Amino acid sequence: MSLSDQVVLVTGAGRGIGQAAGELLAAAGATVGIADIAGDSAQDVARQIRDRGGNAVPLAADLATERGFADAASELARCCGRIDAVINNAMWIRYEPIEQVSTETMDRMLAIGLKAPVWGVQALLCHRDAARLASVINLASPAADQGYANTAIYAAVKGGVVALTRALAVELGPQGIRVNAVAPGAVPTPGARAVVDAQGYEMRKNKTPLRRLCTEQDVAQAMRFLLTPEASFITGEVLHVDGGISVSAG
Ligand SMILES: NC(=O)c1ccc[n+]([C@@H]2O[C@H](COP(=O)([O-])OP(=O)(O)OC[C@H]3O[C@@H](n4cnc5c(N)ncnc54)[C@H](O)[C@@H]3O)[C@@H](O)[C@H]2O)c1
Repeated sequence: MSLSDQVVLVTGAGRGIGQAAGELLAAAGATVGIADIAGDSAQDVARQIRDRGGNAVPLAADLATERGFADAASELARCCGRIDAVINNAMWIRYEPIEQVSTETMDRMLAIGLKAPVWGVQALLCHRDAARLASVINLASPAADQGYANTAIYAAVKGGVVALTRALAVELGPQGIRVNAVAPGAVPTPGARAVVDAQGYEMRKNKTPLRRLCTEQDVAQAMRFLLTPEASFITGEVLHVDGGISVSAG
């Protein structure tokens, strides 16, 4: 199924990696749902895509709630007839020492990071055309595999996302639904810059074998690939887009 034939819901697409994904997929001909709790940002991104001739639907929603996700997905399906793919990208990123972690922080990270991808898959099952192939892309992280101080909850969420990806690939494969993840290296997005300072980025760059940071476009291009017919036999995979940092012992 070519991209120009797909309706793709991208969560957290009001900025950062999700915005880049929405823009790149729309440029490749997909119709994209730009979903974000920041409704103004979703509107702006969708407007910019449409100004360039693409197809985009802004969806203002708190996707951490089952109802919020379901309503946003219904709106997209009402506009476009169906949903072919969901990119579970939205996240609220917090790094802090374990003794400072509150119930509120943990609940918020788990709700958007781990529960929302489940709502995303349920939305796809509800609004897909069963005669067509469908696809899910989750956002993992090197933090799922490697220990970084002060990131325990984030790491636990991303470890859960990887486990979810593999289990759902097996469960949904017979229905023609592929489930993959991308694991980006360090991308200095607005959300990430709130928890990583300039020194932290310098350290990550120097530890990366390809000696540069990851960009939003690097990640969006990997997502685009996973949605093309060329990736039609790839499922249950975690595609690392990180310049080699996850395989480096140094
Ligand atoms: N930036 C990195 O270095 C990096 C590295 C590895 C993985 N990731 C993952 O990539 C994804 C995107 O990260 P980013 O750096 O672009 O983040 P970001 O914080 O810049 O953007 C996240 C977006 O999600 C939205 N969002 C948050 N909570 C929401 C909610 N409840 N409902 C709807 N939208 C909500 C925000 O408004 C924001 O627009 C995340 O899953 C993140 O964990 C990022």
